[in-house]
Amino acid sequence: MGLPERRQGRQRRVQPGGDHQPHDRQQAPRDRRRRLETHRDRSGSLQVLPAQWSRLRCLTQGGVASWSRERIEGTSVRNPVNDPGPTSYEAELRRHNEVLRRACGVQVDEHVLDIGCGAGETTRQAARIARSGSALGVDVSVRAIERARELAQAEGLGNVAFECADAQVHSFPQERFDLVTSRFGTMFFADPVAAFTNIGRALRPSGGRLVMMVWQSHERNEWDEAIHQALETVHAEQGPDAFSLADPASVKQILRDAGFTGVDFTDVREPVYYGHDVDAALAWACGFTSTSETLKRLDATAATRAIGRLREMLAAHMMDDGVWFDSRAWIVTARRP
Ligand SMILES: C[S@@+](CC[C@H](N)C(=O)[O-])C[C@H]1O[C@@H](n2cnc3c(N)ncnc32)[C@H](O)[C@@H]1O
Repeated sequence: MGLPERRQGRQRRVQPGGDHQPHDRQQAPRDRRRRLETHRDRSGSLQVLPAQWSRLRCLTQGGVASWSRERIEGTSVRNPVNDPGPTSYEAELRRHNEVLRRACGVQVDEHVLDIGCGAGETTRQAARIARSGSALGVDVSVRAIERARELAQAEGLGNVAFECADAQVHSFPQERFDLVTSRFGTMFFADPVAAFTNIGRALRPSGGRLVMMVWQSHERNEWDEAIHQALETVHAEQGPDAFSLADPASVKQILRDAGFTGVDFTDVREPVYYGHDVDAALAWACGFTSTSETLKRLDATAATRAIGRLREMLAAHMMDDGVWFDSRAWIVTARRP
């Protein structure tokens, strides 16, 4: 596992659409980055416009909850000046979603369980395909489940349901589902073996399958590294960890201990989208809980500087079609024997 190429002095983006390979096969990406001018004052320092600062200030003072709501609901974050178009969780992960959809291979009559479903994009997707089957989305967030129900109802999907529950301990119907899937919703379990054992019981025996997408290590995820560097923070050792299932050897052990067999990993290299332009990407990046909490801890001068560094970093990632970062994920597949 080499260092991210950014650290080797090369700016690059993974070629979208198809750069997902079996574990450890590498492919050279195409570099089509177009740099944008950053705004600097006469001394050469990065200029944070007052209007933008006050918006960010207001948003960060509004706290994590309001930003989390935007993310959960998949609503857009818009550029306050130019209104260039939406950034949303769906947009950020659009390319990942396509890879996961193909890996799941949902059949028309299958019953699907989506763990940590958020606003239910992947659950609805499964339900559309499983026309004679069903899809159940589960999430601990009340607001996410409310939103998921609204969206499914608006679409008129009759074979989808959502439950607000902790997947670690929830009493799922036993041996009911053909497929358990998750898009970045299984990394936060306090006791992963117990959680996956519980989830596994919901799968039908002799072939029920698990197909989940999880992040590879933070060092391999340019978006996380770049934001930490810009904010001059380090990856948190404590608390919920989005990278907790990054290591194939330990994930394999967890799933085996939880009763799964045939554990396999596919390397997914798709870029994540942060916004149509730097302003939209800045607003999106400031929506991360870790970013907004870091900014809240700083005094006004330090926060202005931090936002300036974020902006500069995002400008370096601006390409013809918006702000993108490299990312690396695993699709983990396993079966219930
Ligand atoms: C990164 S989000 C992904 C949401 C969704 N899968 C998507 O891709 O849009 C992670 C989700 O997992 C949910 N989650 C975390 N721990 C959970 C648990 N123990 N049981 C159920 N959901 C959980 C969170 O509430 C959150 O909605």
